[in-house]
Amino acid sequence: MDEFPLTAERHARTQAYIRSLFAVESPQQAAIMPAAIAAGLRPIEVGPETGRFLAVLLRSLGRQGTGATLAIEIGTLAGYSATWLAQGLAPGGMLHSIELELAHITIAQANLARCNVADRVTIHQGKGSEVLPRLLTQFGPAAADLILFDAERSEYPALVHTAHTLLRPGGILAIDNTISAKRFIPDPYAPGEPADPMDTLNRAMAVDPRFISTLVPIGNGLLLCTRL
Ligand SMILES: C[S@@+](CC[C@H](N)C(=O)[O-])C[C@H]1O[C@@H](n2cnc3c(N)ncnc32)[C@H](O)[C@@H]1O
Repeated sequence: MDEFPLTAERHARTQAYIRSLFAVESPQQAAIMPAAIAAGLRPIEVGPETGRFLAVLLRSLGRQGTGATLAIEIGTLAGYSATWLAQGLAPGGMLHSIELELAHITIAQANLARCNVADRVTIHQGKGSEVLPRLLTQFGPAAADLILFDAERSEYPALVHTAHTLLRPGGILAIDNTISAKRFIPDPYAPGEPADPMDTLNRAMAVDPRFISTLVPIGNGLLLCTRL
């Protein structure tokens, strides 16, 4: 029996506790989303605790213990998650971030410069489904330490194959919004309600023999798939 059941209030307090201890934003990071929202962007960034979690993962993934050498994300928005991912890179390591909207790229580039990580992040304009295969051609198979999907969900199932080829064995595919998306995914379906695409993806990844995967209940849920 769980002595301290995770009530909604305890969950909120847990997130605040993690933020206050481990996911403390720099003043420059804290300014990113308020300014982006004022410029008309939606508040759909990862939370700081997810950002810090990804930074810790990337630091562990580096082969020399100094951080990762190649990370890729789909969905730059204002560059907020990129500032966290950059924390996990080895000296000389690079993040390649893919974004469809030019206006978002302009805002992100200014934020990355303010956070002093512009030299570690290259932003590519286009759809994930077009740019990720180009990065595979550029870097070759088994080159990437981590790939984050945080953009157009309908593209994810087709992109899993490209991500698997791009990742080195032991590298991680991370997919955000896999517990809470258009619905709270673990909730039971109403009779006749169609399956949520993220639920379908979770179920496919759970049994995909090319990865060992689990779902981490951080932020809106982060699906982690280690490439075998
Ligand atoms: C959830 S936001 C990304 C948030 C960002 N990762 C963060 O946490 O700061 C999704 C972004 O993906 C972009 N986007 C939408 N469709 C896309 C696609 N097909 N390929 C690449 N980016 C896309 C949107 O313009 C938006 O900026």
